[in-house]
Parts: sequence; structure tokens; C-alpha cells
Amino acid sequence: MLPLKKTGNQMPDFAALYAGKIKELLHKPPRKNAERVAYLHTPFCRSRCSYCPFYRYTEKKSTNFAQQTATMIEQWGTSPFVSQAPFDIVFFGGGTPTLPNAQDLNHLLTAFNKHFKKNDNCEFTFETTLTHITPERLEVLKRQEVNRLSIGLQTFDENLRKMLGRPSTLDNMLRKIRMVKEAGFRFNLDMMYGLPGQTAEEFADGIRKAMDCGADNISQYQLQLFDDTPLKQSLKKGKFFALLDEESVFQMQLAGLETCKAYGYKQWNLKNFSPGGEPCRYTQTVYKERDMLPLGSGGGGMIEDYSIFTFPQIEKYYEAIKKGCYPVFQLKKTSNEGLIQKKLTGILESGKIDVKSFEDAFGTNCLKKYRKHFRLWKQQNWMRQEGKNFEITIEGMRHFMKMKKVILT
Ligand SMILES: C[S@@+](CC[C@H](N)C(=O)[O-])C[C@H]1O[C@@H](n2cnc3c(N)ncnc32)[C@H](O)[C@@H]1O
Ligand code: SF4
Repeated sequence: MLPLKKTGNQMPDFAALYAGKIKELLHKPPRKNAERVAYLHTPFCRSRCSYCPFYRYTEKKSTNFAQQTATMIEQWGTSPFVSQAPFDIVFFGGGTPTLPNAQDLNHLLTAFNKHFKKNDNCEFTFETTLTHITPERLEVLKRQEVNRLSIGLQTFDENLRKMLGRPSTLDNMLRKIRMVKEAGFRFNLDMMYGLPGQTAEEFADGIRKAMDCGADNISQYQLQLFDDTPLKQSLKKGKFFALLDEESVFQMQLAGLETCKAYGYKQWNLKNFSPGGEPCRYTQTVYKERDMLPLGSGGGGMIEDYSIFTFPQIEKYYEAIKKGCYPVFQLKKTSNEGLIQKKLTGILESGKIDVKSFEDAFGTNCLKKYRKHFRLWKQQNWMRQEGKNFEITIEGMRHFMKMKKVILT
């Protein structure tokens, strides 16, 4: 997701600037050797959660979104890139893509499904929050072939939830999750650790509850404290509890990992667990050759080696659609070096670096720049080497963010 910057009135007409290139990309027939992904971003939330850097617009601004996005899909859905081959993976992310009411969701999804054909085993996910889980929305999502929900639960603890700005009772949470299950969706639960005032026992207990609910995947997110979030401001003023030290946060991560394993869930990347170790395909695409078309406002994607972002400013997004332009805000060719860096950052999250697949894709010397870091991390026991490949150790998990930073600089 692209940060929303105040750009004033001096902004060039990006949609017109990139019109030729986006047309060229969308008018080519689809590549045969790449996974096909559609990503639709909805930049609205009912209210702001105290920790969240992804928040953009309140519900009030969302009135025309479903309608306008359906129009945009009708405008571009007949292009060869969209119409000439089915999609493997569809992800509606946010913000909260379930924010429109059931009728508007149905309208948007009808337009989407009319043009975006899907493979039989297509993974079709919607991110959602418990607040938006209603029988009406679930009915629409089911009828429109969505087969997986990714629910930002974060914690079952009622007090921690108040601090996060997502108050709910345990009974209500369990009731909503039961509704999702009874409606026949597979579902992921996002759980957070490292929250001020949280204990390793509380986190492990939450993970146990999540597995008892029948989650088919659990994502464990370490709290990142971003500037300009209400949580950071409150902590600065001494509200709530103090932040936890690094060691306590790491112990919490280990408690989550052990709890999942004790229940028979298998880890398939550094923060994800599922009953059979089956990965979420959308997350897995980061490691693969893929073409991902961004839709909605503030969505990011990539076709061949062109990265594409759609307008994060909602007014600009609507304006481009009105003119019949693809709402592109940024489109640029990524260098080979950039592609390697991007892929390596993604692959680091998987916990394993398969050197051969890099060399097959980018040539034998492609990782030369990173070799000295791999050597150092091996000496520090952050990584172990097996043949040509590397694997992050438990000690390495503690330093994961540092490793990621090194690759990104
Ligand atoms: C892009 S958000 C969208 C989820 C959805 N809107 C919801 O709130 O349920 C996906 C996930 O990112 C994680 N996340 C958001 N802010 C975070 C932060 N500051 N630190 C760590 N994880 C965060 C949360 O677990 C969240 O569920
Ligand atoms: S966590 Fe989800 S609902 Fe909360 S502000 Fe972020 S995107 Fe919106």
C-alpha cells in the first residue's frame, strides 16, 4: 500500500501520463508462466484502530466506492490481460473491503465476477473485521464465490481490545467467528503480540482460542509502533502500559510458535501456521513469478517488471474513472537489482532462501551483493546453511527485522 501524501494542486495528471503504458500492458495476452492475481484495495474503515498505519478514510467517504469501482471494472474488464485467461488468486484487502453494505458489495462483486474468470481452485479472499460480519454480507460473499476470509482479530482480551480501539466482548467475538464457520468459509485470524500490557500467557491463550475456533490459518503479527498512530501518541503521554522490552516480545513470539505446534498446526513461514502447513496462496505469490493487477484505490501490483499503484487519493481515483482512464498513480519499470531485492525480502519471510531458484531466475551471480551478510548471519547463528540454501534459525527470528533492513538498504 502506498503512503498517502499531501500533494496540493500541482500534481501532474498521472492517469493520462501512464495511459499509454498501462494500455500496452493490459492489451497484451496474459503470460503463461506467471500466476495471475487480482488485488482490489478498499481504503475505508469504520473507525481507526489505535495501532494501524493503513488507515486512510472514514466510512463517510465511502458512499460511491463500490459503484465507481464497478464502473472501472466494466471499463477495463474486456482488456486481453483480464479476459483471456482465468485468475489463480483474488484478494480484496484494505482498509476494510467488507465496509460497503450487502447490496453495494453484491453490485461490486457482480461486476468483478462478470469479467474476472477464476480457476476452479482459485483462492478468493476478503479481509474483514468482526464488526462487518453480518448474515447479509456473508450471504453475498458466499454467493459471489468468495471462499476465504482473513479476519483481523488481534486479541481475545477485552481490555487489550479497548486499548487497540476495537472493543468487543469475548461472547460477541466467538459468536461472529461461529457465523463465519457455519456459513462455510475457510478463515484466517490475524493475532498480535508485543502489545503494551500483554503477557506471553495471554498471547498463547489467544492462539489456543483461535485454533479451537477452527481457524484454517493463524498469522502472528508483532506490533510495530508507527509514528502518527494514536497508540504511539498515547504511550508518549504515559497512557496505558509501558512498551515491552525486546526479550519479552521474543518470548511471546516463541510462546505463540510453541502453542501452534503443540496443537498440531505447522509453520509455513515465519509468522503463519496452518493445520497441515498448507500456505495461503496469496502470501506465497510473493516468492513466485506473478502478474498482479491492482484495482481499487491505493492498491499495488506488478505486471511483468512494471510496478503499478492506483491513486490513494479517493477524489483523484474517482476523477480518473470518470475520464475513462485506468486510475494509475505510479507506474515504473523495476530494475533487475530491484526485483532481486524485492524477492529476497519476501523470501526472507518464508524463513528459507532457496538460492537455486534465484540463480535460475536471475543468473549465477545475482546474490553476490548479499553473500557477505549471509556469511555473517551464519556466524552469528541467525541462519544455518544446507547445501546451497539458507534457513533462518530460532535465534535469527529474534533478529529478523534487522536482517530485513539490511536487505532493503
Ligand atoms: C492491513 S490490516 C487489515 C485488516 C482488517 N482491516 C482488520 O482490521 O481486521 C492486516 C493486519 O495487519 C496487522 N497490523 C496492522 N497494523 C499493525 C501494526 N502496527 N503492527 C503489526 N501488525 C499490524 C493486523 O494484524 C491486521 O489485522
Ligand atoms: S486494522 Fe483494519 S480496521 Fe483497523 S484501521 Fe487498520 S485497516 Fe482499518
